[in-house]
Amino acid sequence: MSDLAFPVGFLWGAATAAHQVEGDNSGSDWWDWERRPGTPCPDRSGLACDHYRRYPQDVALLASLGLNAYRYSVEWARVEPENGRFDQAQLDHYRAMTDAVLAAGMTPMVTLHHFTLPRWVAERGGWLDAEVPGRFARYCDRVVRALGDRVTWWCTINEPGVVAFGGYLGALNFPPGRKDVGSWERASVGLIEGHRQGLSAVRASASRARAGMTHSMNDWEANEAGRPFMEWLRRRNEDVFLEAAADDDFVGVQTYTRVPVRVNAALGVLLRVALGIRPLASALFPPIIRGQSLNPEPAIAAGSRRTQMGYEFLPEAVAATVRRVATLLPGKDVIVTEHGVATDDDAERVEFIDRGLRALHAEIVAGIPLRGYIHWSALDNFEWARGYGMRFGLIGVDRATQARTVRPSGHHLGAIARANSLTVP
Ligand code: FCB
Repeated sequence: MSDLAFPVGFLWGAATAAHQVEGDNSGSDWWDWERRPGTPCPDRSGLACDHYRRYPQDVALLASLGLNAYRYSVEWARVEPENGRFDQAQLDHYRAMTDAVLAAGMTPMVTLHHFTLPRWVAERGGWLDAEVPGRFARYCDRVVRALGDRVTWWCTINEPGVVAFGGYLGALNFPPGRKDVGSWERASVGLIEGHRQGLSAVRASASRARAGMTHSMNDWEANEAGRPFMEWLRRRNEDVFLEAAADDDFVGVQTYTRVPVRVNAALGVLLRVALGIRPLASALFPPIIRGQSLNPEPAIAAGSRRTQMGYEFLPEAVAATVRRVATLLPGKDVIVTEHGVATDDDAERVEFIDRGLRALHAEIVAGIPLRGYIHWSALDNFEWARGYGMRFGLIGVDRATQARTVRPSGHHLGAIARANSLTVP
């Protein structure tokens, strides 16, 4: 047996997002999206994990495992239910929740925007509205003034690349359900501007703040014909947001898998042409990205292990993305702010954690300033357009009774956190 020790002060945590766990987030765009006629959502979020009321128990449970950090989000739709009207009771709620996290001995990490928008923002075009970055910054300012004396770690926007390509290019079943390259590009610009202004608001009110974005990153892989398309996609989905993070205090990396782009020569040529022709690109890209349905080769080698999400089971992908951040932004502090697996076999989650951490440890040894590992997710929860069927939790949640059951993987990650070390057989 040997021990792989992690740096002193390493953050060991679990993550959630408000809409996925709190319940009754009825002022948000996602609430409407789940109810729209013809909605692609198999489930409605409903009461979710009732975390809005049960957070004291959940926070205590996470701390009892041995974790020293909890990443959660503040819900804009609750805090500002109408344009310019801020609800002090909601700010007080998040302050009490933050106090509970601190009292349990954990470091809070607060996300200000995790996929959901207030209905009134969505009605004005969401991230396509030129006024939304400024409005987002105004909301950030209110939250930071309420919590800034208690919170050091701030994530302005969660996975801006996913928000843009999921909801505006239509590559995922996300609101507002737009499906064109022009909207995708404009939303990306809006999200970057939102981050820029949000970051300034955070820094203005919280001098000790360490702020950044959390980035969805894949371990991309392509055959020769697919390489130009893959690089173009990676640039739009990831690099533009990483470039916008050059001034951030840290980069949050969120990696679940490897994405292979394998196309035959003819499709490769078609895609190259499509890169320059907007209507053609709008028609071709969403189906390709969704299911690689135009892809003549199977996306993942037959027989390879998949997660409930359909992703290749590859925990080490996170080390590849952390390395990529270190190449693009040398010396920048990195935190893995999400890494996890949807499975009904908890032994797979233990394996996912161990293999991921082992690969990350090697990157620390190689000199990358990795400051923390935050697992997705604390609880089984509402997995957006995939609903409740995806089980990501270190803690299982009984949908009928709301009873929590800590899984062996929860105890396992907690033991690693306590030891600040991974014991390798
Ligand atoms: C990420 C999201 C998070 C969760 C995981 C599985 O893209 O940030 O809310 O849905 O994927």
